Amino acid sequence: MKVLGIESSCDETGVALYDTERGLRGHAVHTQVTMHEAYGGVVPELASRDHIRRLVPLLRKVLEQAQTTLAEVDAVAYTAGPGLAGALLVGASFAASLAVARGIPALPVHHLEGHLLSPLLSADPPAFPFIALLVSGGHTQLMRVTGVGAYELLGESLDDAAGEAFDKTAKLLGLGYPGGPQLARLAARGRPGRFKLPRPMLHSGDFDFSFSGLKTAVLTAVRKQTLDDAARADLAAEFQEAVSEVLAAKAMAAVRASGMKRLVVAGGVGANLRLREQLNAAAAQAGVRVYYPELELCTDNGAMIAFCGAQRLLAGAEPACSGVFSVRPRWPLQELLQ
Ligand code: KG4
Ligand code: ZN
Repeated sequence: MKVLGIESSCDETGVALYDTERGLRGHAVHTQVTMHEAYGGVVPELASRDHIRRLVPLLRKVLEQAQTTLAEVDAVAYTAGPGLAGALLVGASFAASLAVARGIPALPVHHLEGHLLSPLLSADPPAFPFIALLVSGGHTQLMRVTGVGAYELLGESLDDAAGEAFDKTAKLLGLGYPGGPQLARLAARGRPGRFKLPRPMLHSGDFDFSFSGLKTAVLTAVRKQTLDDAARADLAAEFQEAVSEVLAAKAMAAVRASGMKRLVVAGGVGANLRLREQLNAAAAQAGVRVYYPELELCTDNGAMIAFCGAQRLLAGAEPACSGVFSVRPRWPLQELLQ
């Protein structure tokens, strides 16, 4: 079965083709980063318009990579939420139109489930069951995953998501959008320890997180004194250290409590190298294996949507062929949970 995946929930347009027999056959992403840079963040209307411009060329590219045609595609999976309403509508209507034109099913996919399953696309994928640490711009969650669609929430952020904290802190440090990678670059030139930031909820005894206080602590440090470049780098390093330490400690605690030996990390913040170092060190000590998506599949892409759609179809999902579609800008992950 060949499943086309369409992603347009935010500022990346992604198209991919996943073949349940032969794996990922084609995958292309266009990022709008340079377009939104001037505004310091994503401008929803511009995002929607750009998705419209990019989808057809990306689809052509993916079909070419896969050396196939639309006639060979069996189903279309698209991100139905959560995300920006207008941006989601572009991908959803594109997917539904393709499906109607070809007489094939269109399947709505939850963006976070796409991220969650993305490590399964790697060359050496994890087997079920595993603990998943989902760290994106909108979510920070620890989950127990026993199969496709079998997710149990263990804990989550009570306020800002980890990626959101990276983005907001980056802004406080005078960095541009997207904040996470820029903050990580600044942090690489600094050292943690010169500034002392809290490790929120490190010893709370549960699997929840809180990151908004960390951002406020950075704001306090920034207001207290004028920071030169070296000091900003040290503050960024301390922030990155604090977030990574809490994420790694709680993820490992969840793994220990579950008795499992596999930890899967997904979502944009999973690209952070310091977080990976901390997780890898803690996991090695505990005899736990950590699985990450391929670096290019950490952030938004169509491959994870195609893959997730294919897994859902294999598990018996019955998608609509009617051309009717809807998007869910706010689609609580809880609705996917057992
Ligand atoms: O998963 P993703 O691409 O989109 C969402 O579904 O939210 O995650 C984007 C988030 C942003 O907050 C971005 O700043 C963060 O992931 N991010 C990073 C890094 N790369 C992306 N945060 C820290 N370090 C990075 N290297
Ligand atoms: Zn995402």
